[in-house]
Amino acid sequence: MAGIIKTAEEIEKMRIAGQLAADVLTMIAPFIQKGVTTNELNQRCHDFIVNEQQCIPAPLNYHGFPKSICTSINHVICHGIPNDKPLKEGDIINIDITVIKDGYHGDTSQMFIVGKASILAERLTRIAQECLYIGINLVKPGARLGDIGAAIQRHAEQSNYSVVREYCGHGIGAGFHEAPQVLHYGKAGTGETLQVGQCFTIEPMINAGKKTCKVLQDEWTVVTKDKKLSAQWEHTLLVTENGVEILTLRPEETIPRIINHD
Ligand code: MF3
Ligand code: CO
Ligand code: CO
Repeated sequence: MAGIIKTAEEIEKMRIAGQLAADVLTMIAPFIQKGVTTNELNQRCHDFIVNEQQCIPAPLNYHGFPKSICTSINHVICHGIPNDKPLKEGDIINIDITVIKDGYHGDTSQMFIVGKASILAERLTRIAQECLYIGINLVKPGARLGDIGAAIQRHAEQSNYSVVREYCGHGIGAGFHEAPQVLHYGKAGTGETLQVGQCFTIEPMINAGKKTCKVLQDEWTVVTKDKKLSAQWEHTLLVTENGVEILTLRPEETIPRIINHD
């Protein structure tokens, strides 16, 4: 099914929600240190989102999810539930933030390295971000979703990593997860054609080992079957007349907010 085309008013609300989601990552970054628990990070984000931003943390109670953010450490691929275990030196952690402002969603995630990581952890984290950026650079009206998936898959596999198949990016707006599904693998020239005014996420999950995953007993936490590391980065995007606008860009990023292919 095709994605919803947003009106100018909706796009402005998506810009605001996207900026707010990015601001949560910027706020929490200095607290991600050895010894802190993911419950403490969850509480800080929750309070900031609710009290400072006057937003709703979308994950809380979403299909029964028990916390306000997702925290996915090391071999956890996604949907990790914050808990009382302290972070340790060398951990890699994805923090995934989704806020709702004025009825619209902004969804973004980032990897953090606790202290000094292994060369592998650093490389995996970097390549996963490159996969996201390669995907973003292909977004424009007339591009096919398969073009994006194929380019991400190529970069991951050329780096000897694998792409998780079971979870994908998604349309986003008044709904958290709208059509279309945005696969991070596939065949160029296939799939839905992008149109001006569509909003969706790209959020590749890249594994150091095999692509196979499983869900833990808690029914949320997704882990690599081989227990090797996994990394993920996510942005919420708007398809513009001649390219893409990154609605959840953070100040430290080097990629431009607006990419114009004319
Ligand atoms: N933020 C995730 C995404 O990128 C979804 C999390 S759903 C939750 O789509 F329930 F686990 F929070
Ligand atoms: Co998402
Ligand atoms: Co997310």
